[in-house]
Amino acid sequence: MSCAVFAFPEAMKPASDLSGLLGVPCRSVEVRAFPDGESLVRVAEVTQVAILYRSLDRPNGKLVELLLAASALRDGGAQRVMLLAPYLAYMRQDKAFHPGEAVSQRVIGRLIADHFDALATLDPHLHRIKRLDQAVPGIPAFGLSAAPALAAAMPQKSDLLLVGPDAESRPWVEAIAGPLGLDVLVGEKRRCGDREVDLAIPGIERVAGRPVVLVDDVISSGTTLIAAATMLRDSGAGEIEAIATHGLASSEALAQISGAGVSRIRTTLSVANPTACIPIADILANGVRSAGWIA
Ligand code: R5P
Repeated sequence: MSCAVFAFPEAMKPASDLSGLLGVPCRSVEVRAFPDGESLVRVAEVTQVAILYRSLDRPNGKLVELLLAASALRDGGAQRVMLLAPYLAYMRQDKAFHPGEAVSQRVIGRLIADHFDALATLDPHLHRIKRLDQAVPGIPAFGLSAAPALAAAMPQKSDLLLVGPDAESRPWVEAIAGPLGLDVLVGEKRRCGDREVDLAIPGIERVAGRPVVLVDDVISSGTTLIAAATMLRDSGAGEIEAIATHGLASSEALAQISGAGVSRIRTTLSVANPTACIPIADILANGVRSAGWIA
């Protein structure tokens, strides 16, 4: 079956890196904004299998264009339309935390399942469910791990300590630290608001004089890293760096994280951001192949 990667304008470079590894063409999804704010989406040279590549940071407008592109691909003859969203939005609101709130994960998961034949993403933010296909029911859904890319980016420093800021981070901070033989500390975090967390890091006295890398799945408001870095600095840590899968932070937030003592912040190329530098194309290509999307 013919296959191509179809990419929105902001993702042409990472999508073409992926298509190069897969040995299939990369085609652009053209988007034009009408004066009233609506989008016109156009695809050309449609293949039987279409891999639509778009990260869903700042997701609201992107989601509409994504659905229009999926429809245009089917109208153009695609028999299978796959969504490859290195960053998948709306996974954090997996329950109504307060009366009257929408369960966004369920709504967006169903929307994707209704329009695509399969989904793959990187380090989806799952709390109360274990598998991505529970959030996106009825289609094959693959949550790929960025751990090998993050592990490869770890500085080669003796006595390095990895710190995960909360209990959810433990399995994959350990997955990164294990093969490298690195020490791990895991914090206990309670989120009190969008920009407010209570954080404790049991065993923090072990950071004294040691280089530390904070590891998280996503940097959003930066609140978590600012709180963690402040505590580490106050406890006498040596150089503090931060590495995360998805960088969503604004430049103001990044400046605040630096101001809290983090000397270098790096994220993967899942989302275009000043911190994005860790390649993931090989992880995505392996994921696409193991999912059987292409031979
Ligand atoms: C939370 O459970 C996540 O692992 C991240 O720690 C969190 O989403 C980061 O968000 P922020 O940068 O807004 O603190």
